[in-house]
Amino acid sequence: MPRTIRKIAINTGGGDAPGLNAVLRSVTLAAIERGIEVWGIKHGYRGLLEDEPGGLVRLDRDAVRGIMHLGGTILGTANRGDPFHYPTQEGDKVVPKDRSGELVERFRREGFDALVAVGGDGSMRIANALLERGLPLVVGVPKTIDNDVYGTELTFGFDTAVSIATEAIDRLHSTTEAHERVMVVEVMGRHTGWIALRSGIAGGADAILIPEIPFSYESIVQKVLQRESRGRRFSILVAAEGACPKGGDLTVRDAGDEFRRVVVLGGVAERVAKEIAARTGKETRSMVLGHLQRGGGPTTFDRLLALRFGAGAVRFLVQGCESGMVALRCHRVELIPLAETAGRTKTVDLDGDTVTTAREMGICFGDEAPGHFAPGGTAAS
Ligand code: F6P
Repeated sequence: MPRTIRKIAINTGGGDAPGLNAVLRSVTLAAIERGIEVWGIKHGYRGLLEDEPGGLVRLDRDAVRGIMHLGGTILGTANRGDPFHYPTQEGDKVVPKDRSGELVERFRREGFDALVAVGGDGSMRIANALLERGLPLVVGVPKTIDNDVYGTELTFGFDTAVSIATEAIDRLHSTTEAHERVMVVEVMGRHTGWIALRSGIAGGADAILIPEIPFSYESIVQKVLQRESRGRRFSILVAAEGACPKGGDLTVRDAGDEFRRVVVLGGVAERVAKEIAARTGKETRSMVLGHLQRGGGPTTFDRLLALRFGAGAVRFLVQGCESGMVALRCHRVELIPLAETAGRTKTVDLDGDTVTTAREMGICFGDEAPGHFAPGGTAAS
């Protein structure tokens, strides 16, 4: 049954992803068309919890004009702003405090009927917990370049990151071949290998290392040497930042803290490059694409997906649907329960046709059995 919504709040949380501004635009326009007032919460939940001027900003047509193609987010974001573990000054120390009750109270006091929470898996978990804490209505909009949000086939930001990584791999071919080197390119993705898999295949990588498939150095070395024996004296390896050697650990740059309770990954490419150099005697180099993958505007695909997600969120709210998360399923935007996605991760399907395609083209995942690569021939099995 249709429901009356008068005033909604929207925020963007976690790492930014190209397409966030497009969501802000479509939510705002779709709401205004129905006579609904839209307010943006600055920097995740900070705008509701801190008494800062401008913490809540009115989003009208002017506020969202000309932003659709821009990267970042006009609201700002935060990845140390979990209201259940909010950094709070106590004496001379900053300690984590549960301020979720305060947040729900302020939300109700401001007269908001619903929250549109744009974020990744962490933001969906927080949105679900806030709902349980008493927030009236929440629709989550999944964003992340990692594409790891459970329940949606795609998140916006991912296509842009894959395009940037693919272009980088394309460019690395000429310099790597000119110097007859091994190049290891590190891409983002946290604990999933979506970006590495797609950019690696599209960019013509010789090996792709993803968290879902622990790798052995022997397997990679065999691949490099197989190429040498065919006269291809250079190799390009793409490593997801969360890739791990068999029985080995994640390569971690920063262990996180009590406010950002996730580790910061990074450095696996350098680690792999050193090992390959030691084992093959070949000159190797590594490079980390890092935040370039998140910077700048969205691709047309991401822009459109973001616009569809945002308009869908408002549509579901006024249609009277329960709280949930918009998701892309079989090319359609649907609403799924928040509890279905919260706390879960969508990993690469190892039996899916993308991984199979890569294997059929002879791309190494680092799990191939010894002797798998027949020198001068095609993969033996
Ligand atoms: O989740 C998006 C992401 O870009 C990951 O791929 C990466 O591990 C992480 O965020 C980096 O976080 P930060 O921007 O805080 O360094």
